[in-house]
Parts: sequence; structure tokens; C-alpha cells
Amino acid sequence: MAFLDKHKIIEKNASILLVLSLLVVLIGGLVQIVPLFYLQNTIETVQGMRPYTPLELAGRNIYIREGCYVCHSQMIRPMRDEVERYGHYSLAAESMYDHPFQWGSKRTGPDLARVGGKYSNAWHVDHLSNPEAIVPESVMPKYAYLAATPLSPEYIGDVMATHRMVGVPYTDDEIANAKADFVTQDTPDADASGLLGRYGAKVTVADFDGKPGVSEMDALVAYLQMLGTLVDFSTFTPDASR
Ligand code: HEC
Repeated sequence: MAFLDKHKIIEKNASILLVLSLLVVLIGGLVQIVPLFYLQNTIETVQGMRPYTPLELAGRNIYIREGCYVCHSQMIRPMRDEVERYGHYSLAAESMYDHPFQWGSKRTGPDLARVGGKYSNAWHVDHLSNPEAIVPESVMPKYAYLAATPLSPEYIGDVMATHRMVGVPYTDDEIANAKADFVTQDTPDADASGLLGRYGAKVTVADFDGKPGVSEMDALVAYLQMLGTLVDFSTFTPDASR
């Protein structure tokens, strides 16, 4: 056939084959990549998201240090069994201030994306101190030492400034008040108006571990108690236009 005869020219000439192959790859690449530059945003905007308070951010660092992610995911997939067990499926916006994100796929224990508010602070302290005392068949390690380890706010402002470098919108005011806000959130009788003004009235102020001073346990429980609570799903409607 005449057409195949012409194709022979390409097959027998390595240079032409190379140039034409590159051309095909180039067009294919452009078709895939160029539309991405015209997407305004891949994260839907939702009400209620805010950066972590200094104490929550410190607790999050302990969560990462202790490797909680090895056994716990933080992403509820939109499948019916997951939504019925854990609550509304996770939105991309809910982890927009997470560096690094904690999604994960390994669930030796349950997903923690919406564990905030599910239990009392005292329950978390008892459970983290000795999980088997609460759930006899639990294989989760004991973290009692967290309550005995004081946590200094010395570097939390620097941590926040670092998060700002990668896009978390911490203000100068929030960074300047980081140490004070850190202690205030763990002190129920303190004047919390500054903290609540900066991070919103929904921030939980409590003595999380029930002991004087800020411990690693306080920070970790403050973090766990806000997980998945920022977006109000009674008013949230998915944006159907996207
Ligand atoms: C070796 C795996 C493992 C590690 C590591 C681990 N957990 Fe767990 N976790 C579990 C298992 C299994 C359960 C379910 C039984 C139970 O409640 O103890 C659980 C349950 C929980 C629950 C209760 C969740 C619910 O909805 O009932 C919380 C909260 C929790 N873990 C937090 C943590 C935190 C914080 C860390 C890190 C300091 C951590 N876990 C580390 C295995 C683990």
C-alpha cells in the first residue's frame, strides 16, 4: 500500500523518527499540561477554616514526632461506610494549612480526621496514658510520659513563621503573640479575648490535662480536640459548578 510505503521512510530513518516522535510527545504533553495553568484553584473555598493556634500547632508537631500517623489516617473518603462511621468526607480545604498533611492510608486504629469533640479532654488524657485501660483489646502504645513532659513555647513563634513561608497566612500580630496565646489556651481563668480575637470564638480554652503548666499532653489533646471541627457541615453545600 502506498501509505505504508511512505511510512517506511520514517521507519528506516532514525533521525526523522526521533524528530516526529518528539513532536507527538510534545503535542500530547501540551494537551495535558496547559489546561492546568488555567485552573484558578483546585481547593474549594469553605467557611470556617483558620490556621492552627500556637498550642494546637505544637500538639500537631508532637503527633508527627510520635508517629501517630503510622496507625491513624486523617482522611475520610467519600464512601458510604466511611462517611457513616466517621462523618462528612474530608474536604481538600480542611488540610490546606497542614505542612505536611496527615492523610495516610494505614489504619491500625481509626481515622482521626473528625475525632475533635467526640470525647472529653479527660478521656483523651486517660486513653493516651494507657489505651488498654479504656479499650482492653487496644494495641495502641502508652503515651503517659507526655503529661510529665513540660512544653516550652520558646520556639513556637519561629515554627509559625516557618509555616508562613510555605503559605499559612499567620499575621505579624499572631506571631508576636504566639507565646502568650500558647499559655492562654491552657489557662481557663485567663483573659482569652486576644487569643479568641485572633483565631475565632470557637477556639477551646481549657486545662486539657488537668495539671498546672503546659505539658506535651496539653498540646496534643488541644490538637486532637479541634480536628475536623472547623467547617460547619450543617450549612456546608458542595459547590456543584466545579
Ligand atoms: C500501633 C498503632 C497505634 C499508634 C502508633 C497510635 N495509635 Fe491511636 N489507636 C490505635 C488503635 C488500634 C486504636 C483503637 C483502640 C483504642 O481506642 O485504643 C486507637 C485509637 C485512638 C483514638 C480513639 C479514636 C476513636 O475515634 O475512638 C485516638 C484519639 C488515638 N488513637 C490517638 C492516637 C495518637 C494521638 C497517637 C500518637 C501519640 C496514636 N493514637 C498512636 C493504634 C495506634
